[in-house]
Amino acid sequence: MKLYFVFLLIAVLPIPLYARSMVLLLPFDDLSDAVSAPDDDDGSYSDSDEFHGSEPDYDTIVDPGSWSDILESPACVNGTSIINNEDNKDYDRVYCEGMRKMLEAGSGGGYRVMEEAVSEIEAAAAAGNPHAQSVIGFWYNMGMTREMSQAKAFLYHSFAADGGNLQSKMALAYTYYRQEMHDKAVNLYAELAEVAVNSFPILKDSLIETIRIHDGPEENKEALRKSKGEEDEDFQILEYQARKGDAEAMYQVGIFYYFGLRGVRSDHAKALRWFLKAVQKGEPRSMELLGEIYTSGVGFYKNYTKALEWLTLASERKLYSAYNGMGYLYVKGYGVEKNYTKAKEYFEKAADKKEPGGFYNLGVIYLKGLGVKRDLKIARRYILAAVKAGQPKAFYQLAKMLHSGVGMKKNLPTAIKLYKIVAECGPWTSLSRWAIESYLKGDVSMSFLLYSRMAEMGYEVAQSNAAWILDKYGEHVMCMGESGMCTDAERHQRVHSLWWQASEQGNEQAALLIGDAYYYGRGTERDYVRAAEAYMQAKSQLNAQAIFNLGYMHEHGLGVPFDLHLAKRYYDQALEVEPAAKLPVTLALASLWMRKNYANGFMISMIDGLPEVFPKVEAWVKDVIMEEGNATILTLFVCLLAILFLRERQRRHAAAGDMALPPQPLR
Ligand SMILES: *[C@@H]1O[C@H](CO)[C@@H](O)[C@H](O)[C@H]1NC(C)=O
Ligand SMILES: *[C@@H]1O[C@H](CO)[C@@H](O)[C@H](O)[C@H]1NC(C)=O
Ligand SMILES: *[C@@H]1O[C@H](CO)[C@@H](O)[C@H](O)[C@H]1NC(C)=O
Repeated sequence: MKLYFVFLLIAVLPIPLYARSMVLLLPFDDLSDAVSAPDDDDGSYSDSDEFHGSEPDYDTIVDPGSWSDILESPACVNGTSIINNEDNKDYDRVYCEGMRKMLEAGSGGGYRVMEEAVSEIEAAAAAGNPHAQSVIGFWYNMGMTREMSQAKAFLYHSFAADGGNLQSKMALAYTYYRQEMHDKAVNLYAELAEVAVNSFPILKDSLIETIRIHDGPEENKEALRKSKGEEDEDFQILEYQARKGDAEAMYQVGIFYYFGLRGVRSDHAKALRWFLKAVQKGEPRSMELLGEIYTSGVGFYKNYTKALEWLTLASERKLYSAYNGMGYLYVKGYGVEKNYTKAKEYFEKAADKKEPGGFYNLGVIYLKGLGVKRDLKIARRYILAAVKAGQPKAFYQLAKMLHSGVGMKKNLPTAIKLYKIVAECGPWTSLSRWAIESYLKGDVSMSFLLYSRMAEMGYEVAQSNAAWILDKYGEHVMCMGESGMCTDAERHQRVHSLWWQASEQGNEQAALLIGDAYYYGRGTERDYVRAAEAYMQAKSQLNAQAIFNLGYMHEHGLGVPFDLHLAKRYYDQALEVEPAAKLPVTLALASLWMRKNYANGFMISMIDGLPEVFPKVEAWVKDVIMEEGNATILTLFVCLLAILFLRERQRRHAAAGDMALPPQPLR
């Protein structure tokens, strides 16, 4: 028997990073056995950076090979070398030109432009430009302009990764992850997570979000509205209030500009202006942010004396997270004499007030033995507390513990999952901003191309966004296939494989869609067995709809053994998971009851016939009754009518003086 600790990993300040919360299971014995890990010999572990290694350089975030700014990058504009290799300079220019054409083609420029892009990028790749090789890897993965080939994609991404392309490293890590090659996956993800953590703000947490643009089958209007940046009405109202002198609004507007949230382009100068206005009104969180700005030197404002002043002021106004910043300055000896004892005192003050950053920092202090005796047990306790509070740097530390086996029992699969979460917050996430901006501008083709690239890098949200766009906009999306534009078959296959990957990563909606696709033979051969598999996967995410469908399939012996008892159990479970499913479950149980009692009745054959009629009925009723055109619920709706009909008939019989009970099996 194993006990499980359930951590609800909910990201992250100040707005949730993931639409879905993540549940991570850590076997209990990982914690109790952990002390068996060696306390002294920890190999390279303590060599790594304590709080942060290299200070992030916000103005030129290191992300070689990123598509995001390729068109504005000096290398492409002025033709200077990307990879600092004079011999390849000409080919870098060729690569830039090729990329420019590919992006033009991707945004509806037509296939001819794409062909030119292909030959230029191929030339650059052949000359050893890693970023060009990475693009070719992407094409093989997608089956764009060439046959789909995982093997060749892998090869090109490996070349590109060796040349330092981080997107290819993400793609490779994800490939290893999917194939459960833990050793390889864990090392790559560890490297990427480290790059990601080093790009995070020093004192505060905030990360770019990847927005899910759909909610089930519908466009997620709310999320899209919130991604419009300065165009968004809420933002404009906020800015108006800030101009009117509302300190809270000043702080919020500053935050939007500082972190570049919700589609607002990050602009540190504007952020600083707003924070400086807000602190005049005594707004403490702005004081802390000023501390962050003067510590990290964002926009060349580095001044540790000022940082300490503002952090002290913030802490005096009961903003306890500011103690973390003060502690940090003492750990590093920035503007003050290095003093671990003092640093620890500040972190303890923060932790006393339940500040996640305080837990995290104390964890690191004990992990490294900075001014205290190294104590892995205490370190683990603090890090776990920070993880529970959703502190992303703590995810990284926990992953390292599980990876190295220091302070925790070694557990590679969990370490990989944690590293992956952190790695997916790295600088390469900026693609998602471009993708959503394209989508909002109505350039669905570009958006699809960019999400496809992120899909390859393993982002679940991007996988389902890409699938959804291609599904929803069909031929209006520029989808490039093996030769020329995608055929119908290629498009279906691409949608299917994107949903499949999203479902593998626990997207229950995607798993349900896959199940439906197999059940109704949409975009693929009808296959009840695979449908049942997909529903099973969604069921493991406790998706009521999937559980219900499994019940239905057991009731009818479709793809799974005919088993009325099991069917009933699934129906009951669906109800437990989702009380709103009461109506369909009641109906299903009614139909089950009839099946048990009148196995050969007319009603039964009618109910059994329903799924066949259904796609037609569905098309007709879709707009009228159900928002989602949900197949199963429609079946049941028809069942309801049937049952009502039966009752009515009974009643008429009774009224006519016939035997009232029991209802006659109908022939
Ligand atoms: C690129 O060219 C622009 C003007 O054309 C210039 O301002 C900029 O400094 C150049 N950048 C590099 C890296 O050469
Ligand atoms: C840093 O800030 C302090 C206090 O505001 C000020 O006296 C000092 O001149 C500043 N240093 C620099 C290099 O700007
Ligand atoms: C460090 O801080 C502690 C507590 O504030 C103090 O007692 C100690 O003297 C300081 N050490 C140094 C070297 O300044």
